[in-house]
Amino acid sequence: MQDKISVKKPKKMKNNVKRENVQSLLEKFEPKKENLIPILHDIQNENVYNYISEDAIWEVAKYLNLTHSEILGVISFYTMFSTKPRGKYIIRICKSAPCHVMNADSIIENVKKTLGIEICETTKDKLFTLELSSCLGICDVAPAMMINDEVYGNLTPDKIKKILKEKSQ
Ligand code: FES
Repeated sequence: MQDKISVKKPKKMKNNVKRENVQSLLEKFEPKKENLIPILHDIQNENVYNYISEDAIWEVAKYLNLTHSEILGVISFYTMFSTKPRGKYIIRICKSAPCHVMNADSIIENVKKTLGIEICETTKDKLFTLELSSCLGICDVAPAMMINDEVYGNLTPDKIKKILKEKSQ
Protein backbone atom coordinates (compact mmCIF):
# COMPACT_ATOMS: atom_id res chain seq x y z
CA MET A 1 0.00 0.00 0.00
CA GLN A 2 1.22 3.46 -0.86
CA ASP A 3 2.17 5.74 1.99
CA LYS A 4 0.46 9.09 2.32
CA ILE A 5 2.31 11.83 0.50
CA SER A 6 3.17 14.51 2.96
CA VAL A 7 2.54 18.02 1.70
CA LYS A 8 3.86 20.83 3.84
CA LYS A 9 1.84 23.94 4.47
CA PRO A 10 3.33 26.82 2.49
CA LYS A 11 5.07 29.32 4.77
CA LYS A 12 3.48 32.36 3.21
CA MET A 13 -0.25 31.94 3.10
CA LYS A 14 -2.93 34.56 2.90
CA ASN A 15 -4.49 34.56 6.31
CA ASN A 16 -8.11 35.06 5.28
CA VAL A 17 -9.75 33.31 8.20
CA LYS A 18 -9.10 33.75 11.89
CA ARG A 19 -7.16 30.76 13.09
CA GLU A 20 -8.55 31.12 16.64
CA ASN A 21 -12.08 30.75 15.24
CA VAL A 22 -11.19 27.53 13.44
CA GLN A 23 -9.49 26.23 16.57
CA SER A 24 -12.50 26.93 18.78
CA LEU A 25 -14.78 25.22 16.26
CA LEU A 26 -12.50 22.20 16.10
CA GLU A 27 -12.50 21.86 19.86
CA LYS A 28 -16.22 21.12 19.77
CA PHE A 29 -15.43 17.85 17.97
CA GLU A 30 -13.43 14.77 18.89
CA PRO A 31 -10.42 14.56 16.56
CA LYS A 32 -11.96 11.68 14.62
CA LYS A 33 -12.11 11.37 10.83
CA GLU A 34 -15.87 10.72 10.91
CA ASN A 35 -16.31 14.28 12.19
CA LEU A 36 -14.85 15.76 9.02
CA ILE A 37 -18.16 16.62 7.33
CA PRO A 38 -19.76 18.35 10.35
CA ILE A 39 -16.49 20.20 10.96
CA LEU A 40 -16.41 21.45 7.37
CA HIS A 41 -20.05 22.52 7.66
CA ASP A 42 -19.36 24.51 10.81
CA ILE A 43 -16.26 26.16 9.36
CA GLN A 44 -18.07 27.15 6.19
CA ASN A 45 -21.09 28.45 8.10
CA GLU A 46 -18.84 30.50 10.34
CA ASN A 47 -17.18 32.21 7.39
CA VAL A 48 -19.05 35.33 6.31
CA TYR A 49 -18.20 34.50 2.69
CA ASN A 50 -19.52 30.95 2.94
CA TYR A 51 -16.37 29.06 2.05
CA ILE A 52 -13.57 26.98 3.51
CA SER A 53 -10.25 28.78 3.28
CA GLU A 54 -6.83 27.25 2.64
CA ASP A 55 -5.80 28.06 6.19
CA ALA A 56 -8.85 26.28 7.58
CA ILE A 57 -8.12 23.19 5.47
CA TRP A 58 -4.61 23.01 6.91
CA GLU A 59 -5.92 23.38 10.46
CA VAL A 60 -8.49 20.62 9.94
CA ALA A 61 -5.85 18.36 8.36
CA LYS A 62 -3.61 18.80 11.38
CA TYR A 63 -6.46 18.21 13.83
CA LEU A 64 -7.78 15.05 12.17
CA ASN A 65 -4.40 13.73 11.03
CA LEU A 66 -5.47 13.78 7.40
CA THR A 67 -3.66 15.21 4.40
CA HIS A 68 -4.57 18.49 2.77
CA SER A 69 -5.50 16.64 -0.44
CA GLU A 70 -7.76 14.18 1.40
CA ILE A 71 -9.73 17.09 2.79
CA LEU A 72 -9.76 18.88 -0.54
CA GLY A 73 -11.08 15.67 -2.13
CA VAL A 74 -14.02 15.62 0.28
CA ILE A 75 -14.71 19.33 -0.22
CA SER A 76 -14.76 19.00 -3.99
CA PHE A 77 -17.01 15.91 -3.83
CA TYR A 78 -19.84 17.84 -2.17
CA THR A 79 -21.35 20.73 -4.09
CA MET A 80 -22.43 22.40 -0.84
CA PHE A 81 -18.79 23.11 0.05
CA SER A 82 -16.69 25.77 -1.59
CA THR A 83 -13.06 26.83 -1.43
CA LYS A 84 -13.87 30.14 -3.06
CA PRO A 85 -15.52 33.13 -1.40
CA ARG A 86 -19.25 33.31 -2.08
CA GLY A 87 -22.17 35.51 -1.12
CA LYS A 88 -23.79 35.80 2.29
CA TYR A 89 -26.78 33.95 0.83
CA ILE A 90 -26.29 30.86 -1.31
CA ILE A 91 -29.30 30.33 -3.53
CA ARG A 92 -29.59 26.72 -4.71
CA ILE A 93 -32.31 26.15 -7.26
CA CYS A 94 -33.32 22.54 -7.84
CA LYS A 95 -32.73 21.36 -11.40
CA SER A 96 -33.91 17.74 -11.00
CA ALA A 97 -36.71 16.30 -13.16
CA PRO A 98 -39.79 17.02 -10.98
CA CYS A 99 -38.78 20.67 -10.56
CA HIS A 100 -37.77 20.89 -14.21
CA VAL A 101 -41.27 19.74 -15.21
CA MET A 102 -42.72 22.43 -12.95
CA ASN A 103 -40.85 25.16 -14.82
CA ALA A 104 -37.66 25.45 -12.78
CA ASP A 105 -35.91 26.84 -15.87
CA SER A 106 -38.00 29.99 -15.85
CA ILE A 107 -37.33 30.38 -12.11
CA ILE A 108 -33.59 30.11 -12.79
CA GLU A 109 -33.84 32.71 -15.56
CA ASN A 110 -35.87 34.96 -13.30
CA VAL A 111 -33.30 34.85 -10.49
CA LYS A 112 -30.43 35.37 -12.95
CA LYS A 113 -32.15 38.42 -14.41
CA THR A 114 -33.18 39.85 -11.03
CA LEU A 115 -29.68 39.55 -9.58
CA GLY A 116 -27.77 40.23 -12.80
CA ILE A 117 -25.57 37.15 -12.38
CA GLU A 118 -25.08 33.77 -14.01
CA ILE A 119 -24.99 30.39 -12.29
CA CYS A 120 -21.98 30.06 -9.95
CA GLU A 121 -21.55 33.81 -9.83
CA THR A 122 -21.82 36.19 -6.88
CA THR A 123 -23.42 39.62 -6.90
CA LYS A 124 -21.02 42.57 -6.64
CA ASP A 125 -22.29 43.42 -3.16
CA LYS A 126 -21.37 39.85 -2.09
CA LEU A 127 -24.93 39.23 -0.94
CA PHE A 128 -26.04 36.40 -3.25
CA THR A 129 -24.41 33.46 -5.02
CA LEU A 130 -26.51 31.48 -7.46
CA GLU A 131 -26.05 27.71 -7.74
CA LEU A 132 -28.02 24.76 -9.06
CA SER A 133 -28.80 21.71 -7.00
CA SER A 134 -30.13 18.22 -7.45
CA CYS A 135 -33.36 17.23 -5.66
CA LEU A 136 -33.82 19.04 -2.36
CA GLY A 137 -36.31 16.44 -1.12
CA ILE A 138 -39.34 18.71 -1.34
CA CYS A 139 -40.63 17.73 -4.79
CA ASP A 140 -44.23 18.06 -3.61
CA VAL A 141 -43.73 21.83 -3.63
CA ALA A 142 -41.77 22.03 -6.89
CA PRO A 143 -40.24 24.22 -8.21
CA ALA A 144 -38.06 24.62 -5.16
CA MET A 145 -34.89 26.26 -3.93
CA MET A 146 -32.87 26.73 -0.78
CA ILE A 147 -31.27 29.89 0.51
CA ASN A 148 -28.62 28.80 2.99
CA ASP A 149 -30.57 26.40 5.26
CA GLU A 150 -34.08 27.64 4.43
CA VAL A 151 -36.24 25.89 1.85
CA TYR A 152 -38.73 27.60 -0.44
CA GLY A 153 -41.29 25.86 -2.63
CA ASN A 154 -44.08 26.60 -5.09
CA LEU A 155 -41.87 29.31 -6.52
CA THR A 156 -43.29 31.95 -8.81
CA PRO A 157 -41.62 35.11 -10.16
CA ASP A 158 -43.57 37.19 -7.61
CA LYS A 159 -42.54 34.95 -4.74
CA ILE A 160 -38.88 35.09 -5.84
CA LYS A 161 -39.01 38.88 -6.00
CA LYS A 162 -40.43 39.07 -2.47
CA ILE A 163 -37.89 36.61 -1.02
CA LEU A 164 -34.91 38.35 -2.61
CA LYS A 165 -36.17 41.75 -1.48
CA GLU A 166 -36.49 40.51 2.11
CA LYS A 167 -32.97 39.09 2.05
CA SER A 168 -31.57 42.32 0.61
CA GLN A 169 -32.83 44.40 3.54
S1 FES B 1 -36.89 17.54 -7.77
FE1 FES B 1 -36.77 19.53 -7.00
S2 FES B 1 -37.07 19.25 -4.90
FE2 FES B 1 -37.11 17.26 -5.67
